[in-house]
Amino acid sequence: MINEILNNYLSKLDYNLNVISSNRPEICDYQINDSFKLAKELHKSPLVIGNDIVNDINELDKYNNYFSKVECVNGFVNLTLSDKFINDYLRTMDEKDKFNISLEHKKIILDYGGPNVAKPLHVGHMRTAILGEAIKRICAYKGNETISDVHLGDYGLQIGEVIYAIIHDKKDLNDIDLDYLNEAYPRMSALVKENDDIKEECARITKELQDGNSEYHKYYEVIKKVSVEDIKRLYKYLDVSFDLWEGESDSYKYIPKTEEILEKEGLLKESNGALVVDISKDSDSKELPPLIFKKSNGAYLYTTTDVATIYERETKYQPDNILYVVDNRQELHFIQVFRTIYKADISDAKLEFLGYGTVNGEDGKPYKTRKGDAPSLDSLFNEAKEIFISKKSGNENMSDEDLRKIVNAILKFADLQNNRVNDYIFDINKFSNVVGKTGPYMLYTVLRLDKILNSEDRKLALSDKIYNDVDRKLRLKIINLESAFNKAYETRMPSYLVDYLYDLAVSANDFYQNNHIASETDEQKKNDYLYVIYMTNRVLKEMLHLVGIDIPSYM
Ligand code: ARG
Repeated sequence: MINEILNNYLSKLDYNLNVISSNRPEICDYQINDSFKLAKELHKSPLVIGNDIVNDINELDKYNNYFSKVECVNGFVNLTLSDKFINDYLRTMDEKDKFNISLEHKKIILDYGGPNVAKPLHVGHMRTAILGEAIKRICAYKGNETISDVHLGDYGLQIGEVIYAIIHDKKDLNDIDLDYLNEAYPRMSALVKENDDIKEECARITKELQDGNSEYHKYYEVIKKVSVEDIKRLYKYLDVSFDLWEGESDSYKYIPKTEEILEKEGLLKESNGALVVDISKDSDSKELPPLIFKKSNGAYLYTTTDVATIYERETKYQPDNILYVVDNRQELHFIQVFRTIYKADISDAKLEFLGYGTVNGEDGKPYKTRKGDAPSLDSLFNEAKEIFISKKSGNENMSDEDLRKIVNAILKFADLQNNRVNDYIFDINKFSNVVGKTGPYMLYTVLRLDKILNSEDRKLALSDKIYNDVDRKLRLKIINLESAFNKAYETRMPSYLVDYLYDLAVSANDFYQNNHIASETDEQKKNDYLYVIYMTNRVLKEMLHLVGIDIPSYM
């Protein structure tokens, strides 16, 4: 990373300096603010110190030529990178694997997706899928081993409800298909809201299923098969994939062992017939409720399955980190689970809750269809497709695969540019515009660069020159990839990478509008321009792919 290189370089001097990115990029590229701290220590004025630093850097840089300008302004030291430094860095990015990004080698489990069997996927499931997949690919690109688990909600009350419906509808198991599930689940969930007896009956069925009732298990297998097939189809459309298709149900065989550990550690307490773990800490600003491990009727809960699943993951994989990409509203649940794990010393993996905000409509409330329900994923995909097609005549003739890629770009680029934890307003019309910070804008940019590269040959190596301001700005942007990438990786916020890619695309558009490559007669200059375009295009394509966006054949 450039900051590191510069810090390393300047560590040859006697000061302890810290180079940071410039606050005012129009004036310089990097800056050093240490004169003020040093001034106090050395009882000199910041201006004097600043000028001393400038002189010493200039002396050091005489033979190395990292900087084209080093100056002290009001005590701040401003650094401007030399053309040579920028071009050397570009060459290294080009030659080395993965643009020379430094690598790590951890084992990271990612838990995202989390769809619930027998319930239709909705817009919230799109966020975890899009974010989780992007975070996984970023972690893997960074060199880590990743294991992704879809962690199906496959043992909850909804299953008991649908089994109840099957029995009462006298449905033949062979006739259970997606249409039936899509009809039966909402019908049942309305029914149990009105009728406590039926609700209790459904809970009983669920509990017996969990206890191993073989009759119910037959129903369960069919429901799961039909539902998972559809879930896989939707994920395929979104290019989201998982190494493991485990679910809450798979954790049941690890519950006895987990319970034994909690018991042995003296963490299980009785409370109104239930078994709970007190997870509160003195430092908590408000009192946190205990984790319920086992209900008074002997049933296990969502919390139990998450605790047992971590035990399972620890024994099978010994991960360094486990990442959960789940709705912000489940934060308390995960605090309870994580604290229980640490208290019982079940795993020393770093457990990370990566919450995300809600997708809202114009009214600021969770996004709904005109009919008032949460839109299915299929309807969102179709909406994006129809709007894109309506924007330009001819779009309707594009291939299904190209349209799929465009729909993905529209939805993903809109989602990922938001800070993960924030809500955002779903405005498909805005998202599908070709101008603005949108997926289609990004795709157009890449396709335009492709076209330039396909029509011109590059014969010479990159020179040490930079020709003008837009040129410099674009090259500087390219060499800042690692800093944006690392920020996205470290914070698990793909928005840092997406913001960077958008800025890169804007700089690239500026570049070719101001520099006419086709008519350029200076052979070296033309080659250098093509090289910059080529590097921009490579970075855009490779990084867009990391956030799940691939380029259609044309637009
Ligand atoms: N199925 C859950 C839901 O829809 C999400 C699962 C998240 N992952 C987990 N390990 N709890 O709310």
